[in-house]
Parts: sequence; structure tokens; C-alpha cells
Amino acid sequence: MCMRVTDHIILGHDDTSKMIEITVDGKKIPAKEGEPILAALLAQDIMVNRYTVKRNEPRGLFCGIGQCTDCAMIVDGRANVRTCITPAVEGMVVETQHGYGIQEV
Ligand code: FES
Repeated sequence: MCMRVTDHIILGHDDTSKMIEITVDGKKIPAKEGEPILAALLAQDIMVNRYTVKRNEPRGLFCGIGQCTDCAMIVDGRANVRTCITPAVEGMVVETQHGYGIQEV
């Protein structure tokens, strides 16, 4: 189920955004070009972005302004990307982050 607001009493109707696709944990999902990755995830009911280092607890949207790092994910192979302030780009590959987001050797 998509949770996007397309008709807003003050902002009006949003029909100008170009839709793109990003891949999240191997699944393609729609996103508006340039919107925060986190917005595209929430629109698809994806609430967990990472799991904590010590207790492996799920984390997701908290501050929404790039300050807490609870939304950190692996984006195009780069760990600890704050998805609430990173714009979605066509073809982007996003993965749920476990711990530090690096492979243990
Ligand atoms: S939700 Fe806090 S940094 Fe993204």
C-alpha cells in the first residue's frame, strides 16, 4: 500500500514529479526523483533501515533531518548513508544496514 499524499489542502496536487526506480534489498520500488530515499521507503511501508551494532535492534526514521543516523543504510555500496537527507537517483541500490555495514573478515 502506498502512503503518499498526492492531494494536499494547502500544497495542492502533485503531478510534476518524475517517477524513477530504486532497488531496496533486491526489490525495485518507485521513488520520486530527488526526494529523500527515506520518503520512498516509507511510501512502501518499509520502516526499518538498519540494525544496531550491539543489540541488533531495528532502527528507522527518528529525526528526519540528518542528525541521529537512525536511518543509515548502505547506498550504492557505501555504509552509513543517512537516507532522510540523501536524494533518490534512478538505479540507486539501497540495502538494510547491519551493525557497521561492513563485511566482517
Ligand atoms: S532520521 Fe535521523 S539522521 Fe535520518
